[in-house]
Amino acid sequence: MDSNRQVVVIARVLLPAGRDRLAARFELREGGLEATRADLLAMAAGASALVADASVPVDAEVLDACGDGLRVVANFAVGYDNVDLDACRERGVIVTNTPDVLTEATAELALGLTLAAARRMSDAERDLRAGRWRGWDPAAYRGIEIRGSTVGVVGMGRIGQRYARLAHGVGAEIVYAGPSPKPEADRELAARRLEFDELLRSADVVSLHAPSTPETRGLVGRRELELIGPENVLVNTSRGPLVDSEAVADALESGALGAAGLDVYENEPEVNRRLLEAPRCVLLPHIGSATIPSRDAMASAVADNVIAVLDGESPPSRVA
Ligand code: DGY
Repeated sequence: MDSNRQVVVIARVLLPAGRDRLAARFELREGGLEATRADLLAMAAGASALVADASVPVDAEVLDACGDGLRVVANFAVGYDNVDLDACRERGVIVTNTPDVLTEATAELALGLTLAAARRMSDAERDLRAGRWRGWDPAAYRGIEIRGSTVGVVGMGRIGQRYARLAHGVGAEIVYAGPSPKPEADRELAARRLEFDELLRSADVVSLHAPSTPETRGLVGRRELELIGPENVLVNTSRGPLVDSEAVADALESGALGAAGLDVYENEPEVNRRLLEAPRCVLLPHIGSATIPSRDAMASAVADNVIAVLDGESPPSRVA
């Protein structure tokens, strides 16, 4: 091993599409999927770059464990709520993410969850697998149709806008809530921007695409679920802290909410026990970006960002 090579610490794993390019230039230290925070702290010293993912909190303690030579935290995700940006700025450490390359994958998964939740697919499949299917029943598993329904998109960033287009393609009317108007969506999809509560009241499907920030934490709790209502569907492919899982479990059990499709949770990989048992609920293990092209492109984007910063250039996707 060339002791002069800069050290890149990969907190957990990076797919070969990015890892191999980094291995060709740098000394890699890799924690693996099971790595704990203690493992990361133990292997961080001397890192010039730290590759994290959404499950790795990067705070002052981690940054200090890396030491003064740390130049970039490259997040293997578009979201970067796991990274303390202020702590990075204070230490002059650049932060990057992997936007764009997962837009299609995540929007498609959100549409899949929308359809699956709207049509009670999870309950139906569970009953079939458990031997509870007793034959065709005209009253069983009745849900809503997306064509002709109103789909409410909360957060019209890249993924939200792509999801809106897909839902529009299936025949939905699009409404959205977010900090700024989206004239292109208004024009091309006849989308309408609404206040958040108005969106909750008027949409048949509410799909969350906003980042996790102090402002969006707990965005959908008991009050909001009641506004969505007993026929209608909540979908979350953004970040777990936006939704109060306990409130969703209550609303599904009581019938206050029609259905839910969730890909993300407050304390991953833990999932609220009651949600696991709740009816009309489709649950996935944070797989929004899990397509072959998307995950490979994300890994490659991580390598692009690390290489650019360590070469003294401006990285393609800097967030701080
Ligand atoms: C992202 O990129 O933010 C995905 O949710 C994977 O963490």
